Amino acid sequence: MGVMDLTQDDNVSKRTGNKLAGRVAYVTGGTRGIGASICRSLASQGAIIAAGYTGNEKAAGEFRDTFTATYDTSVSVHKGNLGEPADCRRTIDEVIEMHGRLDILVNNAGITCDKTVLKMMDDDWFSVLNVNLSGVFFLSQAALRHMAERGSGRIVNVSSVIGEMGNIGQANYAASKSGLFGLTKTLAREAASLLARSGKLTDPDGIGLTINTITPGFVSTEMLEHIPEKVMQKILSQIPLGRLGKPEEVARVVHFLAADASSYITGQVWGVNGGMDM
Ligand SMILES: NC(=O)c1ccc[n+]([C@@H]2O[C@H](COP(=O)([O-])OP(=O)(O)OC[C@H]3O[C@@H](n4cnc5c(N)ncnc54)[C@H](OP(=O)(O)O)[C@@H]3O)[C@@H](O)[C@H]2O)c1
Repeated sequence: MGVMDLTQDDNVSKRTGNKLAGRVAYVTGGTRGIGASICRSLASQGAIIAAGYTGNEKAAGEFRDTFTATYDTSVSVHKGNLGEPADCRRTIDEVIEMHGRLDILVNNAGITCDKTVLKMMDDDWFSVLNVNLSGVFFLSQAALRHMAERGSGRIVNVSSVIGEMGNIGQANYAASKSGLFGLTKTLAREAASLLARSGKLTDPDGIGLTINTITPGFVSTEMLEHIPEKVMQKILSQIPLGRLGKPEEVARVVHFLAADASSYITGQVWGVNGGMDM
């Protein structure tokens, strides 16, 4: 017997199935990096994709053009600064208005502004907390209202291993990412309670309304480009699997949690970090 082709069920470079056909997924920061991989993975099973971005028009345009041709599914891009509550609410409204519904929200967009605690300015702190934590709250609040009314949905938050371990120079980022753990667990409890109150929690075969978080380790995207070689070598020495993660390795976990069949997983934090934190 030959070696099993582990990629055979995981080919996301084209449309391979219909498991998410008709589902609308809004992926923030979906036009580049990990977010673009998440979009590809969800579209490979037929999801309609809405991808968010904030200023990189070129990346957004290229994403939209290549995407439509590849997956035979509808795609839209939505510009907004998720550090602003009004933009969070507007983009959710836009997606629902354009595609008629929202089934999957992936809170993926995130920023860094690294400085040690003693050098960190007020604005360094607030800008990262605003996008990475408050943005996720305002997007999820708007999405939850819609999903609870319909009785089904998925919210997947993209946190970081840094939220679990801390990191020198990343107090703002680490706090924003570990803040997502408490937010996720509270949202998961409130979502279940909303469904119970409206009598929509009774079907054991239903899709349900779940909220989970993933914690990627170091993943090769533009976000890591500024890390000096010496620091990168030190990071690699802390990863048991000895390499950076690939965006598609993160995307497949988001896809799994977003699937209809994952209805009994909620309020969880799932690591994808090459064993860096265990
Ligand atoms: N890369 C890693 O090693 C790593 C590890 C753990 C966790 N993560 C997390 O994974 C997520 C994605 O990371 P990545 O490396 O793929 O990032 P990236 O390559 O830097 O892409 C960031 C995306 O977020 C968008 N974005 C940035 N600020 C925004 C804002 N204020 N409002 C709306 N959208 C905004 C960007 O839009 P524009 O294109 O318009 O700029 C872009 O689409 C982040 O939450 C990050 O914290 C990354």
